[in-house]
Amino acid sequence: MKRLSRLAAVVCGAAGLVVCAAATAADTMSITLPQDKVQFKPGPGAQVAQTQCVICHTAEYVYMQPPLTRAQWEGEVNKMRKVFGAPLPEDQVKTVVDYLMTQNGKS
Ligand code: HEC
Repeated sequence: MKRLSRLAAVVCGAAGLVVCAAATAADTMSITLPQDKVQFKPGPGAQVAQTQCVICHTAEYVYMQPPLTRAQWEGEVNKMRKVFGAPLPEDQVKTVVDYLMTQNGKS
């Protein structure tokens, strides 16, 4: 295993990853991914959100907001489109906003 760990050290060194240093020492590597909030929960419109809203960030951005009104979610979605360049087609805005209201909306 000595050779393998030296190889890992070289590979990791090239990648410059801190995580690798610890993994090399232990000769194993385990990565824990966040379980929740990365993906949108199932529901009508979830597919559109999952396709259009995790291009740049995780679904967590939606779930970590305080509950927003419909107008506020519309504002958010349009900001994503107009300011940040999200490729969401105009005719899917309502679908996504409806979905966001079921996930984190208030009236
Ligand atoms: C083109 C890239 C891109 C896409 C696609 C995108 N976003 Fe964002 N989003 C951003 C950026 C950039 C930020 C700001 C990140 C930061 O401030 O750290 C952001 C932040 C957010 C926030 C946090 C509040 C805020 O205004 O900063 C929410 C909520 C959000 N996005 C929702 C969505 C939803 C819903 C969709 C799908 C319709 C979406 N995003 C698609 C780029 C994108």
